[in-house]
Amino acid sequence: MVLVVVSSPKGGVGKTTLVANLAVALRRRGRQVTAVDFDSQNALRFLLAPGLDSDLGIARCAARGLPWDAALVAGTDGVRLAPYGEASTSERLRMKDVLLSEPLSQALAGLARSDAEIVIVDTTPGEGRMQERLEALADLKLIVLLADAGSMALVPAYRDGLLLRPMDEAPNTFGVLNQVDPRRRLSRDIADFISAHAAKRFIGVVHYDEALAEAAARGETIVGTTPNSVAAADIDTIAARLDHLTAPGPF
Ligand SMILES: Nc1ncnc2c1ncn2[C@@H]1O[C@H](COP(=O)(O)OP(=O)(O)OP(=O)(O)O)[C@@H](O)[C@H]1O
Ligand SMILES: [Mg+2]
Repeated sequence: MVLVVVSSPKGGVGKTTLVANLAVALRRRGRQVTAVDFDSQNALRFLLAPGLDSDLGIARCAARGLPWDAALVAGTDGVRLAPYGEASTSERLRMKDVLLSEPLSQALAGLARSDAEIVIVDTTPGEGRMQERLEALADLKLIVLLADAGSMALVPAYRDGLLLRPMDEAPNTFGVLNQVDPRRRLSRDIADFISAHAAKRFIGVVHYDEALAEAAARGETIVGTTPNSVAAADIDTIAARLDHLTAPGPF
């Protein structure tokens, strides 16, 4: 299993959208992919398995001591999805207790079919103990930021400034700059600054693209349905880098 954890210092920046679209893009590049939703909003299923009628997810599996593969469903374009699922408050709390005290790695590894399979995880915004445990297991961490002042202000504080460290100190942590809009000067300036000064640390940019939000409203990924859109091309470029970084063999 190759574990890719997607996080962000603040909410609503595009984590779920990127996890779903990257999962499909990686699948189209021939990788086996399982997407896992660790966010109780349970939103990943709307993009990756819109017709899903089961409410079983990893939350209830963890709370009841079931293996997580009981929650796996076939999703878009051959991506497998382990949804967060429906869960009562007590199941959610129990899930957290279980995951903080028992080996999370075993539960995740039980989802993968091979050493090369990519397990890509969507998370809740911000920091927390669960986030910390997931990131400790991650082979690659993707931190999603918006190209705006609010996201940039959080860079030094988030995860002890991981995005500001020299590459050899945090070789598996990469930023993704989302919703870059060349019509806006600040957005353009931030993207230019990052490409000039932190190009290695940022695995890619994704432009602001209405097609993403429109596809999401239809329960689709743009990589699958509008591959010639600007954001789909951006996401595929990131998927190509991820594919390369996580290719079987020595890193
Ligand atoms: N590059 C983009 N261009 C246009 N719209 C985008 C882009 N990326 C994301 N969006 C839209 O932004 C909104 C928030 O995205 P999303 O739900 O993926 O964020 P999130 O980080 O998962 O949020 P949360 O923190 O609540 O889980 C959605 O409506 C999505 O369609
Ligand atoms: Mg989300």
